[in-house]
Amino acid sequence: MSEHEIAGATALVTGASRGFGRGIATALSRAGAQVVGVARDRGPLEELRAELGESFTPVSADAADPTVAGQLIDAYRPAILVLNAGATPLPRPIQHYTWQTFSRNWDTDVQHVFHWAREALLAPLAPGSVVITLSSGAALFGSPLSGGYAGAKATIKFLTAYAAAESERGALGIRFVSVLPQLTGATALGAVYVAAYAARQGVDVATFTNGQGPALTPERVGQAITDLVTGTGLDQDAYLLTAAGLGPLT
Ligand SMILES: NC(=O)c1ccc[n+]([C@@H]2O[C@H](COP(=O)([O-])OP(=O)(O)OC[C@H]3O[C@@H](n4cnc5c(N)ncnc54)[C@H](OP(=O)(O)O)[C@@H]3O)[C@@H](O)[C@H]2O)c1
Repeated sequence: MSEHEIAGATALVTGASRGFGRGIATALSRAGAQVVGVARDRGPLEELRAELGESFTPVSADAADPTVAGQLIDAYRPAILVLNAGATPLPRPIQHYTWQTFSRNWDTDVQHVFHWAREALLAPLAPGSVVITLSSGAALFGSPLSGGYAGAKATIKFLTAYAAAESERGALGIRFVSVLPQLTGATALGAVYVAAYAARQGVDVATFTNGQGPALTPERVGQAITDLVTGTGLDQDAYLLTAAGLGPLT
């Protein structure tokens, strides 16, 4: 999709009310897309609507509900679908999880990507559409203080690649790509884990953060997602995302 084509295109972003999703919705809106933003809490969505104006449509709903996925795909037929919503697991060592708390990111993050990717394939979305999922660098490196999170995010990467293969087999022309961001304290979710890993290492947050190098910001994530939609040569199934931008998986 060219920069010209993004103008007026419909984009749907889950988890749009704060953090990365807010940065993505803002970047796509500024690039000219009509953005539908989904989150459960209506207040922050209304604030974003006030900021972005009529180019942003707030939808208060549970993105992990299969009926919501079906209804919103039917209603909006997005040319750009960003599956970003995610739960914040408890920050604690594995023995302090129960099965229910361990599987939280499977119930939210994985379940929502499963339902929406399935609906995108079955609709099907128009040829030239792009579906982008938010996995995590934790899918490659693990995350010992967040229970089932790393495995859930690895499954999102696999699911996205499976959907890409089905799109290709069916000649649907829908592109599926997953993005694996590095940990950053710049969002509500990330700040919980920066604090937890700093405490684990026995250092303060500033010392831990400085040791990580430049931090990824929601604005940088928004730019990277817009680049993925419009950029030429970005044709891999999955990308790492750091403050330096999109990079190949090593
Ligand atoms: N921050 C990081 O360091 C980092 C690193 C790698 C990957 N990621 C991934 O990037 C994505 C965004 O993370 P973030 O740091 O921006 O998180 P965040 O600040 O906690 O924001 C999460 C967003 O998802 C929404 N959400 C959560 N559950 C939902 C549900 N069931 N239905 C609809 N919306 C839901 C939240 O709104 P409501 O609560 O109002 O629904 C909020 O808008 C997540 O998938 C996360 O795993 C983050």
